[in-house]
Amino acid sequence: MQGIIVCSALLSALTGVSAAPLQEANTSSNDTAVASGQVAFKFPLANGFPNIKVPSPELRTVGEAAVGILPNTPLAKHLAPADVTSFQLIAFAELFQVAYYISLYNNITHSVPGYAVPGPIEPSLLSVLEKTITQEELHALSANAVLNAAIHDSVQPCQYVFPFDNFFAAINFATIFSDVVIGTYQNFQTTLALNGDSGYIALMASIAGPTAERNANPAELPFLSISSGPWAYAALTHHVIVKDSCPNADAIKVPSSNSSPNVSLTTTELAFAFVNNGKKPTDLRLVYTNAQNVPIVRKLENVKTIGNFVSFTVPFSYSDTIMSGMTMCWVTSKNGDFSSANGVTAASLFGTAILNIN
Ligand SMILES: *[C@@H]1O[C@H](CO)[C@@H](O)[C@H](O)[C@H]1NC(C)=O
Ligand SMILES: *[C@@H]1O[C@H](CO)[C@@H](O)[C@H](O)[C@H]1NC(C)=O
Ligand SMILES: *[C@@H]1O[C@H](CO)[C@@H](O)[C@H](O)[C@H]1NC(C)=O
Ligand SMILES: *[C@@H]1O[C@H](CO)[C@@H](O)[C@H](O)[C@H]1NC(C)=O
Repeated sequence: MQGIIVCSALLSALTGVSAAPLQEANTSSNDTAVASGQVAFKFPLANGFPNIKVPSPELRTVGEAAVGILPNTPLAKHLAPADVTSFQLIAFAELFQVAYYISLYNNITHSVPGYAVPGPIEPSLLSVLEKTITQEELHALSANAVLNAAIHDSVQPCQYVFPFDNFFAAINFATIFSDVVIGTYQNFQTTLALNGDSGYIALMASIAGPTAERNANPAELPFLSISSGPWAYAALTHHVIVKDSCPNADAIKVPSSNSSPNVSLTTTELAFAFVNNGKKPTDLRLVYTNAQNVPIVRKLENVKTIGNFVSFTVPFSYSDTIMSGMTMCWVTSKNGDFSSANGVTAASLFGTAILNIN
């Protein structure tokens, strides 16, 4: 196990970084400075995205760059409420990914310090990013099209900040959120099957596939880690969404968690810190999930409380399940169904903190 990436730690390390206003694709709209001194990414793009008509010359241009069109098979007029939530979360996450890859692209092409890539690989990297950006645009448009066909509003984009100042940190984060997305789709596909919306299972696999294809070579795990809708929503909300910048995210019916814990790891111990709201530490558990394995549940040890700040450790056994790749950690209630990601989701109280073990 070398090189553990911890989102929360990366985030805090970058507080105070001041950003050049280069993230905006539409030069006539405003960039918004946020508390950290960064500049928020705002839609629409110069081509009007996400407000692109189907069909239109703009959409054709996106399709040519993405090497494919939006699926032209008929869309369902009805969708179970849980599946509406899934497609809303897909649109929510895909809009963020469009913003993220454009920001990365612009940082490279505008020679932002920390984003220089070796000359010989730059053209192929930019061409990968161009394809990625337009493919993510189509994914977002397809999720909103599914919602519209079932008479639900499109999810509108938020404003975003990306807490990075160099190419490698940005790529590491892309790996993490791709893992979160792929893990979440596993759950959504199950929900589609359970609710009689199985017609969209293939579509969802076809969206998860491109995300996985570009994520790692070789694959980071034989069985990619599971996630859930509320976990993905919490991760995006904590790490990249400018607070209160989402026009209609309140339409997405997921429980929100308003805590952003810190986590770190040695080969034998996981250290966790969170802001408590009066819960008794003896009534809490730390649960972590990796790959397709049964979640691991631990009592909090070495608990230290200062005001609302609680820190503790739990034993971390890397070798039992050869733990690698994305691992999500939550503080949960003491009682719950810890046999599956959905059970842990229901019991989770503070999180998510994400470890990327490699
Ligand atoms: C830019 O921001 C200013 C101040 O908030 C606002 O008055 C103006 O309308 C904004 N312009 C655009 C193009 O969004
Ligand atoms: C750029 O953004 C502004 C303000 O949000 C919007 O009015 C305008 O239509 C956008 N331009 C293009 C070409 O998308
Ligand atoms: C692009 O650079 C700015 C300025 O350093 C930074 O705030 C932003 O996070 C970078 N974007 C990505 C995706 O790394
Ligand atoms: C997480 O770490 C940051 C930076 O060290 C610190 O400001 C923040 O208070 C920590 N959060 C918790 C819950 O301990």
